[in-house]
Amino acid sequence: GVAAKIAPSMLSSDFANLASEAKRMLSLGADWLHMDIMDGHFVPNLTIGAPVIESLRKHTTAYLDCHLMVTNPLDYVDPMGKAGASGFTFHVEVSKENWQELVQKIKAKGMRPGVALKPGTPIEEVYPLVEGEHPVEMVLVMTVEPGFGGQKFMPETMEKVRVLRKKYPSLDIEVDGGLGPSTVDVAASAGANCIVAGSSVFGASEPGQVISLLRKSVQG
Ligand code: DX5
Ligand code: ZN
Repeated sequence: GVAAKIAPSMLSSDFANLASEAKRMLSLGADWLHMDIMDGHFVPNLTIGAPVIESLRKHTTAYLDCHLMVTNPLDYVDPMGKAGASGFTFHVEVSKENWQELVQKIKAKGMRPGVALKPGTPIEEVYPLVEGEHPVEMVLVMTVEPGFGGQKFMPETMEKVRVLRKKYPSLDIEVDGGLGPSTVDVAASAGANCIVAGSSVFGASEPGQVISLLRKSVQG
């Protein structure tokens, strides 16, 4: 379905108080919690991994939308499954050879598979994964270069969202990077229904207002 999913990026939260930050976001109306896993290799930044997901899982039943910015996503499937991840979104740029095996293993571990693409990666590259025998259930169109929160939204990525929405009317399409009250309308009208937002939510004096504004933009 294409229901709105508002997913605060916990990368912008206080990692030292992750459980209470997660609960705060859920109480303010967040649907999902977006968790950015970075390996310091696929992207020039290092964040959290399965042990932190496992710790957070003890404090919440929420959908943990895990975005794996890692060079070897296959190595993370077992640990992330055991840790209690809900969604497992890997990057197409590093999965050209083994995506079929990857998607099957993600599903076997009870997680929901998704594929992400960087701003410079053509949208055609994800078509086989959406149409495969074991299809991904979400496409994450990066709207900044992955690696850091707080960057500027790239409007040129919206053409990919439009093309994808036209081709797959009921697919979950997520956008991630630079989303907030001033950019969400463009993304929502292009066809995105899952909105990741880090700095615009956590930096707001009223994060709950930002979350409901994002939702309104998607729902119309
Ligand atoms: C960037 C991450 C994003 C990031 C978004 O590589 O994938 O999830 O946290 O942060 P904002 O919303 O601040 O751009
Ligand atoms: Zn992300």
